[in-house]
Parts: sequence; C-alpha cells; structure tokens
Amino acid sequence: CAPSLIDAHGRTIRYLRISVTDRCDLRCRYCMAEAMTFLPRSKVLSLEEIALIAERFVARGIDKIRLSGGEPLVRRGVTELCQRLGRMIGGGLSELTMTTNATRLREHAPALADAGIRRINVSLDSLDPEIFRYVTRHGDVAQVLDGIAAARDAGMAIKINMVVLKGLNEDHVGDMLDWCGREGHDLSLIETMPLGAIDEDRTDRFVPLTRVFDTLSDRFTLTRDSHQTGGPARYWRVAEHGNRLGLISPLTANFCAGCNRVRLTTEGKLYLCLGHDDHVDLKDALREGGIAAVDAALDAALPRKPAAHDFRIETGAAPAVARHMSVTGG
Ligand code: GTP
Ligand code: 5AD
Ligand code: SF4
Repeated sequence: CAPSLIDAHGRTIRYLRISVTDRCDLRCRYCMAEAMTFLPRSKVLSLEEIALIAERFVARGIDKIRLSGGEPLVRRGVTELCQRLGRMIGGGLSELTMTTNATRLREHAPALADAGIRRINVSLDSLDPEIFRYVTRHGDVAQVLDGIAAARDAGMAIKINMVVLKGLNEDHVGDMLDWCGREGHDLSLIETMPLGAIDEDRTDRFVPLTRVFDTLSDRFTLTRDSHQTGGPARYWRVAEHGNRLGLISPLTANFCAGCNRVRLTTEGKLYLCLGHDDHVDLKDALREGGIAAVDAALDAALPRKPAAHDFRIETGAAPAVARHMSVTGG
C-alpha cells in the first residue's frame, strides 16, 4: 500500500483541488483582468490524464476532490470526467464536488448529480443585477439564479461564495445571508486575495471579515458551529434561518496550520500552496514515466509544502503571486 501524503509540518493531505480549465465566461474584477491570455489547448492536460492523476491521488489517500477553474463547466467533457471520478466515491473518495459560477449549471446539474456530486459551491457576489454585472463584467444574475435552482432541483446542497468588496457588496452581506437562509443555502464570505494582475488595486476593495462579522452580529444570532468540510472556512450557525455562515479570512485569521490541500492546474502542475510558486510538473512526469513517475514527483515535492502563505494587501503592491487564481483553481 502506497504511503499516505504527510508534509514536513505533519499535515495530512486529503483534499485535491483540480482546475480543469483556466478559462471563464466571466471576468470578475478581483479575479481577472478584462483582457486575459489563456493557455493554448496544446498545453492542457487531457481529461484522461486528469482522471489518471486523480485516481492515483485517491490511491495515495486523497478523499476529497473539488473541480474548479476558471469555470469548470466551460470545459467540454467535464461531466464525463465527473462520471469517471464519481466511480471512486465509497472506494477511497468520500466527496466529489465543484466550484462554479453557475452560468451553465441548468444544462449540467442533472449529470453532475448523477455522477455523485451532492454539494456544490457557487460564486455569487451580489443579488443586484447591476452590481453583479459590474463585478463580473459580463454576468447575468438571473442566469446564475436559474442555475442554482436547477442544482437544487437535482438534489444538490448549495453553498454560496461571496467575496466581500468595499463599496460594491459590503453593505448587502446581511441581505445575502437572509436570502441564503430563505433558500436553504449556506453562505461563505471570502476576503479578496492578492493573486494575479487585475485592472484595479485590490486594496481599494479589501474588507476584513472581522468588520463584516461584527455588523452581521447586530442583525443575526450567530453561534460557532463545529461543522467541517475540509475546506478553509470556519462556520457559525445562523439561529434566525438554521443555515450556516462560513468565514474564509486568509488575511485576518490565517488557517494554514490546518491545511490539507494541494492543487493540480490545467497544465498539470501540482502547486503545494495557493500562495507560493513552488510546484512540480505532473504532466511531464506522467508523459515521460507513467504513474510511477507521478508518485516519485509527488513524494519529492510534498516535503517542500510551505507552512503558510504570506498574503498581504498593501496599496500599490504587486500581487503576492503573479498567476491568477483561475490557474490553480482557488
Ligand atoms: P468546501 O469544501 O465547501 O469547504 O469548499 P472550499 O472553501 O474548500 O472551496 P471553494 O472553491 O468554494 O473556495 C472558497 C474560497 O476559499 C476560494 O476563494 C478559495 O480560493 C479559498 N481557498 C480554498 N483553499 C484555500 C487555501 O488553501 N488557502 C487560501 N488562502 N484560500 C483557499
Ligand atoms: N480572492 C478571493 N477569492 C477569489 N476568488 C477568485 N479570485 C479570488 C481572489 N483574488 C473566488 C471566487 C470563487 C472561488 C473559487 O474563489 O469567487 O468563489
Ligand atoms: Fe470566472 Fe470565478 Fe474568476 Fe469570476 S471568480 S472570473 S467566475 S473564475
């Protein structure tokens, strides 16, 4: 039996995030610039290669896989990939899941549910059509809400991801929490992180979630909840609705000590941390030496997993990491 994945800080790696494409049909302002150069298709792992690598990771102790992007549903064949990965559920994999912007969820939700996806995270930064359009540059909030409804009809639990942005949606977080409560969704609030060049200074929009939490506490009864998903959020139960509020606060409450994740990019690189550039090329390993070489590359890289990111939001500073979040799938 292959050794499980434990890093030099004693953290066991059980969660693999896979960016199946760096492309997206939206251009969220905190995530991407208006003009983006995406990878040429020749550089991208095939779906077969993604499946082979993912299957090996599950054999090595990964029990949770999240597909993300870019927008995972813009990649042709992604539901077939889910069907294949879904066959590992119960046989090593306990959860297969996805983070999506939901623009194409109506079309794909039944197949995703059929593949074994029980829970899905949807990026939705505002319910207001104009603010949503401004943040995403191209998005239509009605289409996203329709995708969310389709996922619910297909039986999936939904968690809304909201990046809190000064002057855009900060004052609407309470209304979003109310809406999520009425709809039966959990809500995760996220601090904007400095990855990749965008067309604005992230400092202008950064909101510490400590401040948001204090404001929400005036309106809702929030009790710390021990719920764990294996992701970075800390959860509170919202008494008024019975749903959960999650906080993802990389800048104001570092969670790296409990990190259990690594990331496979569209190009087949394995990044050991969202906030660092160190990586190993699993595409080359697979193409040159097969699965044994993937194992060897993984074992060589894992001890280098950094203890923590060192994200800071500082006026005028270059992003801590040059690559965009869509490359490593967040
Ligand atoms: P759950 O399985 O529901 O816990 O999902 P998740 O929070 O792991 O995944 P999701 O794709 O919804 O990510 C939510 C936010 O958390 C995104 O902004 C991610 O970039 C961020 N995130 C996930 N993992 C890490 C991490 O290891 N470090 C940092 N800094 N952010 C992370
Ligand atoms: N900082 C924080 N969250 C981000 N996301 C994308 N870019 C950033 C960023 N720079 C979020 C998206 C999505 C999740 C995968 O990551 O909103 O919900
Ligand atoms: Fe696309 Fe998600 Fe980035 Fe928005 S945050 S541009 S939906 S990848």
